[in-house]
Amino acid sequence: MGVHELTHPLVRHKIGLMREADISTKKFRELAAELARLLAYEACGDFPLEVRTITGWDGNPVEIEQIKGKKVTVVPILRAGIGMLDGVLDMIPNAKVSVVGLARNEETLEAHTYLEKFVGKLDERLALILDPMLATGGSMEATISMLKRNGCRQIRVLALVAAPEGLSRVTAAHPDVDIYVAAIDRCLNGHGYILPGLGDAGDKIFGTK
Ligand code: URA
Repeated sequence: MGVHELTHPLVRHKIGLMREADISTKKFRELAAELARLLAYEACGDFPLEVRTITGWDGNPVEIEQIKGKKVTVVPILRAGIGMLDGVLDMIPNAKVSVVGLARNEETLEAHTYLEKFVGKLDERLALILDPMLATGGSMEATISMLKRNGCRQIRVLALVAAPEGLSRVTAAHPDVDIYVAAIDRCLNGHGYILPGLGDAGDKIFGTK
């Protein structure tokens, strides 16, 4: 359990490129998807395998390993979490998608929920929550609580950048949840933005600024 900051050189390289002030929407989206794949790869590293026998290319039986009955729901937090969705689904194509909509009050910086659409059988599924920026941790804490209220017992978080303040809040409230993050940055500014951070990830992914 705990916080896992990815140290792989490819991750460090790609997150560095995302910090460029005038990065294009296309490049930002591509890098978010690539990092989402790498985070998903890391977060699924303990999935159990089973051996099956199939017919190989030469007609002979061959033993292969396959992931054993792991049901996954991917939970992008709207809207920026959508920028990580395709990358994660590239790696876990059978995953079902649940969606959570949270807006943050720009004065209090607290999150309120406007959409909660979960897939069925949450008690049997591992949830992978996607949010590029784990800033104050308010949205993440609320999303984890929502999933738990709906019966989910295995929850992991994938984020591109996290602030220490947000990590402390989420790990204090939900010590049973593992967090996979490409970079842990310095701090939050007075408006709840991560420094040095990436700026507004939603705007950069959707091209709204
Ligand atoms: N949301 C963002 O998009 N960026 C931040 O730095 C914090 C929250």
